[in-house]
Amino acid sequence: MHVTHLSLADFRSYARVEVPLDPGVTAFVGANGQGKTNLVEAVGYLATLGSHRVSSDAPLVRMGADRAVIRAAVTQGERSQLIELELNPGRANRARINRSSQVKPRDVLGILRTVLFAPEDLALIKGDPGERRRFLDELITSRSPRIAGVRSDYERVLKQRNTLLKSAAMARRHGGRSMDLSTLDVWDQHLGRVGAELLAQRLDLIATLQPLADKAYEQLAPGGGPIALEYRSSLGEGIEGAQTRDELYELLIAALVEARKQEIERGVTLVGPHRDDLVLKLGRLPAKGYASHGESWSYALALRLASYDLLRAEGNEPVLVLDDVFAELDVRRRERLAELVAPGEQVLVTAAVDDDVPGVLAGARYGVTDGAVERL
Ligand SMILES: Nc1ncnc2c1ncn2[C@@H]1O[C@H](COP(=O)(O)OP(=O)(O)OP(=O)(O)O)[C@@H](O)[C@H]1O
Ligand SMILES: [Mg+2]
Repeated sequence: MHVTHLSLADFRSYARVEVPLDPGVTAFVGANGQGKTNLVEAVGYLATLGSHRVSSDAPLVRMGADRAVIRAAVTQGERSQLIELELNPGRANRARINRSSQVKPRDVLGILRTVLFAPEDLALIKGDPGERRRFLDELITSRSPRIAGVRSDYERVLKQRNTLLKSAAMARRHGGRSMDLSTLDVWDQHLGRVGAELLAQRLDLIATLQPLADKAYEQLAPGGGPIALEYRSSLGEGIEGAQTRDELYELLIAALVEARKQEIERGVTLVGPHRDDLVLKLGRLPAKGYASHGESWSYALALRLASYDLLRAEGNEPVLVLDDVFAELDVRRRERLAELVAPGEQVLVTAAVDDDVPGVLAGARYGVTDGAVERL
């Protein structure tokens, strides 16, 4: 798939901008702070309903404006669709598909798929477990957009259950009436059902991604691996043998039963996919805390390349976005990465200087200067 037109209104630094795009490589070049990342961030937002830089929408709306609009025409095979998102911080966002407003933002997912490489990806290796959970969950949503519903159900159930546990903890501390635990049982079942679905998707993803990531790492840093992806679950070791959603459900329920006393003391849900991590191993050591800066970078790139291979193999060729990554790499890895992404149906690159864009990524060039985007 590829984007044929991107249009922004009051998004980040842009009051208005129209950017026609072709398949193949397009590079956005310009000095720091001119608005290059802002453009590709908007593309990424249409694919994931989130920014790779910030967790809330407020910074995405141009200072002084009250809403932002991102619009893109996306072509896949013979089919072309127009998607539009209106970002209303503090209120519900709105979506349109082919000018119809009878849709929810979530319905936009799957029309545009992206794999985005950015300096922020280092946090995948060095950051908190939440970064890696988001990586997994965004990728499973790219594979099957209906998972967005499962994710938001899980968030909702978790929130409700935590509220219940918190009031139980309060009541306990203040010697109040003890809670009717049957209500908690019901929420356990909800959490178990949705949580098992999410876990099953994550485990399946990791099994599929593992060989692809190892191959990508070998291509970027020959002889430097092997790498291994290991899911570390709050449900304990038993999860390794579990295959089906039913087995995962049973495990999750059993873990909740075991944790209940502690949960009521602490007032928070202590087991479930929201407490899990993906351990990234390089050789025999975890990358986090052990890998060098360069190794961490190669690892992050390998995870993104593997994501690209996986989506493509499943028939969902994504748009590749490379935000400012070449400047961070030595010449050899720069060339290797460029060769690996060059065949992509559409590759959007940002760079502060033209020379940072490797020669194999020759294609359209846009200059970005103070919010003006001009074809060079
Ligand atoms: N909500 C907003 N309203 C107005 N301006 C904004 C908003 N958010 C970001 N900006 C401005 O956008 C600019 C940053 O744009 P962007 O991150 O796209 O730069 P860039 O061209 O990618 O630079 P670099 O080469 O340093 O990565 C900054 O000057 C910032 O002040
Ligand atoms: Mg940038």
